[in-house]
Parts: sequence; C-alpha cells; structure tokens
Amino acid sequence: MLHDPNKVYVFDTTLRDGEQVPGCQLTTPEKIEIAKELEALGVDIIEAGFPISSPGDFQSVVELSKAVSQPIICALTRANKGDIDSAVAALQYAKRPRIHTGIGSSDMHIKHKFNSTREEILQRAVDAVKYAKQFVEDIEFYAEDAGRADINFLAQMVEAVIAAGATVVNIPDTNGYCLPDQYGQKIKFLKDNVQNIDQAIISVHCHNDLGLATANSIAGLQNGARQIEGTINGIGERAGNTSIEEVVMILKTHQNLGLNTNINTKNFYEISRMVSSQMRMPVQPNKAIVGSNAFAHSSGIHQDGFLKNRENYEIIRPEDVGFPDATIVLTARSGRHALKFHLERLGHNLSKDELANAYHHFLTIADRKLDINDEDLSLMMRELSSVAR
Ligand code: KIV
Ligand code: ZN
Repeated sequence: MLHDPNKVYVFDTTLRDGEQVPGCQLTTPEKIEIAKELEALGVDIIEAGFPISSPGDFQSVVELSKAVSQPIICALTRANKGDIDSAVAALQYAKRPRIHTGIGSSDMHIKHKFNSTREEILQRAVDAVKYAKQFVEDIEFYAEDAGRADINFLAQMVEAVIAAGATVVNIPDTNGYCLPDQYGQKIKFLKDNVQNIDQAIISVHCHNDLGLATANSIAGLQNGARQIEGTINGIGERAGNTSIEEVVMILKTHQNLGLNTNINTKNFYEISRMVSSQMRMPVQPNKAIVGSNAFAHSSGIHQDGFLKNRENYEIIRPEDVGFPDATIVLTARSGRHALKFHLERLGHNLSKDELANAYHHFLTIADRKLDINDEDLSLMMRELSSVAR
C-alpha cells in the first residue's frame, strides 16, 4: 500500500485505553456520541473497545461500527483465538475493520507475566496475526512493553509479525519508561534493521508515567513512525496516555517537521469538554491546548506584552483549537495596561492620572479578591466617580 510519507495517522483510543480508568466507564450511547465527535475531529482510527472483556464492550464495538463510517474501527485482542473471534464478530458491521492484537515483548513480561520464553512468545505473536488475517485484512500488532524490550528481540518480533501479515506495528511504551531520545532511537533501529519494515506503518503508543508521553511520541514520529496513538485530554491508565491535541498542535506549530494530520483542530475544545463531562474527569486548568488557563494571561509583564502584540505571548491562536478567546485575567499581579484594556472595554476612557488612581484602588480590591470581574470594575468606577463629585 502506498502512503503519503508526510501524513501521520491519528489513532484514538479514548474509548478503549482511556475508558479503562476507574470511574470513566461509558454507556454505549455515550460512546457513540464521542465516536461521532471523533469522526468530526477527523481521526483516522477509533479503537472502539476490547470485545472479549465484557458483553457491554462487545456491544459497544458493534454499535459504533454501525454509527460511524469514515474512520477505521479497531478492536483490541490478546494473542489468542477466543479474543480474535470475539473481535471479528464485534466488527461485523464495520466498513473498515481493524484488529489490534499483540503480546508482551519485554523479558519482564515474557518471564513474569506469561511465564514463557522468547521463542514461545514469538510463535504466539505470529500465530495470532496469521489467525486474525484470515478474517480481516487490516491487522495491527502491539508489542506490549516495547519501551523496556531488548531491541534485537523487538526487531525480530516486528519482522516476524509483518511477514505474517501485520499492516501496522505498534511499539508501546506501556509503562511510560523511555526518555525521548531512547524511544526515538528504538523507532530508528526498527526502521534501519527490520528488513520488511516498509510493508507496515510504525505506530507510537506512549504512556505518561514520567510526563514524557507527548515528547516520546514526537521523537517516534521524527524517527519514522507514521501513526500516533493517544486520547483526548490525555486520559488513560495511571498518569494517562499521549494527548492527541498536544501532538497534533506540535506538528501544526512546528511546520518544519514536515508532518501533517487530517485533524480539524478547531474541534479540540468542544471534544475535550465533552469527554471530560461524559467521563467525569476534569481537565486540569493548566493542561496544554485545552486547559481553561491555556490562553489566559495574568501577570502584568505578560499582559503588557500581549496587548502590544499578542504574538509576544501566544504561539497558538485560541480560535485554531476552538477556544472562545484569549483572556486577560485581572489579579493583584496585573498591570496598568491590563486594567486600561478592561476599563476601555467597559466604556471608561481615563486620563493618565485617573488611570493611576484607578489602578491604586484596583490593587487594594485585587489583594482581597482572587480575580476581578466586570461587575467589580463597574462598582469600583462608580465609587471613584462618587468620591470625585
Ligand atoms: O499500553 C499498551 O501497551 C497498550 C496495548 C494494549 C496497546 O495499551
Ligand atoms: Zn496503552
């Protein structure tokens, strides 16, 4: 299959890896609502669930396959026939089905999870891909805990599963262990040493245990991966998965990387809030791209620079991610320029001396109240004008 070398496929696993978080479970109608938003966002693949895990998850994959037509619908399995049979049945209505099967690749998982050997695990990996391939053309293989796997064994496994029919090879940093250059080097090693690597797309799937999921995903893309897996708002097990919105906006902001996606970035804010409310998982205010403070300027120095030219302190335009607008927040750390901006917005055009006086009053109020709104400003101006009379 020929692929645009600069295109990065976006694989969303909000409804599978994201939904594994305690308290975030969704009903099938809620999943369908999110899946439709993901379709509008332009993701290429939706991982709809893990059908063998419960009848509810099975049914969700069935219903999502009917409800969504553009993205590939993917179902997760372990490397065994029962899981794969269940995924095949759940995907029966999908227009573009994908099976995502795999097994542990690190010695830690091989010995202490499977009580097995590299040889046996390799065989199970190949058998699973071959079995799944009888039913579905598009097979993604995940080498779980690849972040800690021996690189030569990982390369051997990747080569074997591609030969068995895998179309995508997922190299998960399951435990969020790697440093960006380590993870990037892993991808490069596979690119350089796996003979048949050009017959598959390399996918990056990073967890955020050390806060490096986004950086690792970007390092993977810089070294030849062309699919990125993640979730909206970065939700997921433990410290979460890679945030799709972060990776996409990095690629858009750093055009020199020469990589692009099909994502309608203007939809990010809306889908972020929808996922947050459906999954009962608040978005931290300082979250990159979609946090409520992501475009809020509050210190005097920043506000002054922003009001002179917003590009002094803005590398992404809020409207590009569907954010209502940048805000100049009034706090005790704000400067005169910010106060003047808000007073003018409310129709008060003050002279230099009047502004100095207003600013003095503003600071005494702001020291008492955490942030100042329009009502506070109007009240302050009424009080100042009655004193002046
Ligand atoms: O983190 C991981 O390794 C996974 C796999 C199941 C893809 O989520
Ligand atoms: Zn994962």
